[in-house]
This record gives sequence, C-alpha cells and structure tokens, in this order.
Amino acid sequence: MSKYVLQTAKDPANMTPHEEKHIPYIEAPDKVKKGEYFQVTVRMGKGIDHPMEPGHFIQYVDLYANYYYLGRVNFTPDTKAEATMTIKLDESCTLRAYEFCNLHGMWESSREIIVEE
Ligand SMILES: [Fe+2]
Repeated sequence: MSKYVLQTAKDPANMTPHEEKHIPYIEAPDKVKKGEYFQVTVRMGKGIDHPMEPGHFIQYVDLYANYYYLGRVNFTPDTKAEATMTIKLDESCTLRAYEFCNLHGMWESSREIIVEE
C-alpha cells in the first residue's frame, strides 16, 4: 500500500494487525449536550500499540467534526500514541480522526456523535 493514500480498515469487523496498529480508535460519548465540553480520547491503535521508536512512530493525530478542524496532538518517539482532547459541539456530526505514521502514512477512522439541545 502506498504511503500517499488515505487508509482505513477494509473490513472493520476483521482488521489485520497492521490495521489495528494504525486505525485511530476514538473513545467518546454517544450523546453530548450542545455547547458542553466533553473528552475525546484517540488511541493508536486498538488492542495493539503502534511502535513509538525513532525510525517508526505516529507523528500526529488530527480531529475533525465532519470536515471542521478541531485540533492536533503531535507525538515524539518518547510519547504514547494516545491523545485526549476536550471539545464542544453545536450539532450532531461525525468525529473524524486522522493519524500520520512516518512509515505507513495517513489513516482515518470516524464515529457519530449525537448532540442534544
Ligand atoms: Fe506504522
């Protein structure tokens, strides 16, 4: 797979170990209140930690609400590829996480969030 391609799980129910290491795993409430802060944790990955070594590591993870940019966390090989951001939303949306591995490129995952008045 080319590192210039946006990658995601081909079959989310049966991910390969390579996919499990790279797919950002988004933990967040299913429902939140409009305008109230809540926490979103993104882990790379699920069940298997991505390596964090000078030659191979996750460089950053970006978080979006649909296609609206929320924030970025940068990593070094001395950190764990895991980030918690505190955010608020005005309307229901798809949270999207994009993580970049220096060897294996960009990986995407998403989850729906319902925002109630
Ligand atoms: Fe990687």
